[in-house]
Amino acid sequence: MYSLIRKIFFQLEPEQAHYTAMNLLQTLRKLPGGKNTIHRIFRAPQKGLQKHVFGLSFRNPVGLGAGFDKNARYLEELDALGFGFVEIGTVTPLPQEGNEKPRLFRLVEDRALINRMGFNNEGVEVIARRLRNWRLNGKPLNPAAKLLVGGNIGKNKVTPNEEAWKDYEICFRALHAYVDFFVVNVSSPNTPGLRALQEKDALHKILTHLQALNKGFAVQRPILLKIAPDLEWSQIDDVIALAREIKLDGLVATNTTISRSGLQTPAAALEQIGAGGLSGAPLKERATEVVQYLCSQLKGEIPVIASGGIFTAADAREKLATGAALCEVWTGFIYEGPAIVQQICKGLAR
Ligand SMILES: Cc1cc2nc3c(=O)[nH]c(=O)nc-3n(C[C@H](O)[C@H](O)[C@H](O)COP(=O)(O)O)c2cc1C
Repeated sequence: MYSLIRKIFFQLEPEQAHYTAMNLLQTLRKLPGGKNTIHRIFRAPQKGLQKHVFGLSFRNPVGLGAGFDKNARYLEELDALGFGFVEIGTVTPLPQEGNEKPRLFRLVEDRALINRMGFNNEGVEVIARRLRNWRLNGKPLNPAAKLLVGGNIGKNKVTPNEEAWKDYEICFRALHAYVDFFVVNVSSPNTPGLRALQEKDALHKILTHLQALNKGFAVQRPILLKIAPDLEWSQIDDVIALAREIKLDGLVATNTTISRSGLQTPAAALEQIGAGGLSGAPLKERATEVVQYLCSQLKGEIPVIASGGIFTAADAREKLATGAALCEVWTGFIYEGPAIVQQICKGLAR
């Protein structure tokens, strides 16, 4: 059934398909009894899948990666589809248009995407207001096992790297009351210079500053760091040492890659697409390798959320078997469709 729907949506320009599909789902959800009906169709098994990670209870280990619901517009729909958690954002202090369109491309032969969105988002004020409203008026399917929300935060394109810490602070303060945990994003390839913030001194400054701010709140939110798959092993070792030193709550590995190796898509087509982060099946192996390395070094001291090329229960199981505490889908959601959480959870529950 989804393969037919996908054929239709794949006729549309990718970004347009994304919003058309989510707005359609939202319209259905808003019909009387809509949310429960969607939930009945896509219900994911919960039994035995609950996870307790960095002090939070996840109803299942399957989340949605950042960049899908950048503006926190679709939390009710994503709750109905059974996700255990959703990373909203990347959110920046000021609203941003992002890069010029087209900026999202399908590589169907590779079951992959390339994007250079550039942190298009409505800015932290609007998003915080929307989250507040959702907290007050949302209708959780199961109040005892709610969808958890991570706030993925970044910096504006115009902010120089030396002042990036201020942007992270603005987003952190504004979202603190409304998210369950934070993910500090310094690893997207589409904001010029951003990934230089993965260097240890820069990271140390941003993360310890957020940790100090966190202590000033009545409730502390777990703070995670999301890293790129393109880091050298020595850089990953620096991240591990820092994570240990400052007692970071967790890591998300990995973001999209700038690599184009091993693709079926012809070189000429890739050249025409141009720059951007590659996600989906071709990222799977490298992401697993990074997650495995992190988990083997950290030995459960610091939990890892695995992201990269997860389409099926077997893919999720592979990531969890390396020691990852939770996993996230993004490109898999596009190719596998709205039943992806149900399918993965069914497989994991077996
Ligand atoms: C169109 C698109 C936009 C994305 N935007 C963000 C973002 O804003 N922040 C972020 O941390 N990751 C972003 N990502 C990366 C995903 O969250 C995820 O880490 C990556 O795509 C690898 O997972 P996948 O292979 O399952 O897609 C984006 C990915 C895609 C495809």
